[in-house]
Amino acid sequence: MAIDIRGRDFLRLSDFETAEINDILDLAFEMKREQRHWSLKGRTVIMLFFNSSLRTRTSFEIGVAQLDAHPVVLNVGQDAWNLEWREGIAMDGDSPEHIKDAARTLSRYGDVLAVRSFPKMKDYEQDRTDPILSSFAKYASLPLVNLESAVEHPCQGLADLMTLREIFNQNTRRKKVVLTWAPHVKPLPLAVPHSFALAAAMGGCDVTIAHPPKFELAPEVMAQAREIAGKAGGSVKVSHNQQEAFKGAEVIYAKSWLSREFYGDQGAEFKYRAGLPSWTVDEDKMALTNRAKFMHCLPIRRNVVATDAVLDDDDCVIYQQAENRLHAQKALLVKLLGESSR
Ligand code: CP
Repeated sequence: MAIDIRGRDFLRLSDFETAEINDILDLAFEMKREQRHWSLKGRTVIMLFFNSSLRTRTSFEIGVAQLDAHPVVLNVGQDAWNLEWREGIAMDGDSPEHIKDAARTLSRYGDVLAVRSFPKMKDYEQDRTDPILSSFAKYASLPLVNLESAVEHPCQGLADLMTLREIFNQNTRRKKVVLTWAPHVKPLPLAVPHSFALAAAMGGCDVTIAHPPKFELAPEVMAQAREIAGKAGGSVKVSHNQQEAFKGAEVIYAKSWLSREFYGDQGAEFKYRAGLPSWTVDEDKMALTNRAKFMHCLPIRRNVVATDAVLDDDDCVIYQQAENRLHAQKALLVKLLGESSR
């Protein structure tokens, strides 16, 4: 029986039961097979981007149009005013509008509000509260969708679990999945690795998170992933040895993320990184796996995160993942809003 999530916010995968996420994905598979036409005619989805995007913006905008609904996309600071989130301050700085007023206004126009707001990556204790997204959640009176924040990228997580289900013919339980840290030219947020760890846990996979020391994911997310995986019949463990972790793996998911230990201090993080062995995913490392599929959320820095040989191989499923954003998000919108009567 279908599960009713109409009217809820979609901020973190961990706000949802595994059964609810799988129910969204069951619909996503029906949509991918084009079993019929789904309509959100007469609805409007407003998207606010505080940061750049290729996949999230296009997959949402196209998906909304395919559902007969109307997308409105605003780049904050360009199409829309810079927005303040702090409460009770004299707004005499760069932001002419408060999220309190923007969220209440947009709630009178649209049916769903979706927001991308990356962390500032200076103050971890502030970033981990997702101040911009939390302010929208406080003041908006329509379903709010997280298009990637400091803590999670749940739409990516949805598409990633959908891709795992495809790779394993729907049976993801106990499959050996490795989320590996990889190098990058700058420290990156924790949102994607957090959401992938939770998504693979929901799949009941045996998840190994491979990273150098000092690159631990947030402990609360690790605890959630372990609990979710346990309930789904899987497990979560950590390895500091990338090549050991790759042995027998059926999926390798590469992603770079920052060290919370050096938060806000790129110089110190890169000094530490200089002493690490290479964590770039290459053919030799992939040869240790059980013919693993290679996953990454994109965008990817070729020959830094993973080599061309890995990315251009038949076992690389990055475009399948990117396509699944479209199907998974359309299913999410239909589940949050309920279909329009035609
Ligand atoms: N994976 C992802 O969210 O891509 P964009 O940053 O291009 O939207």
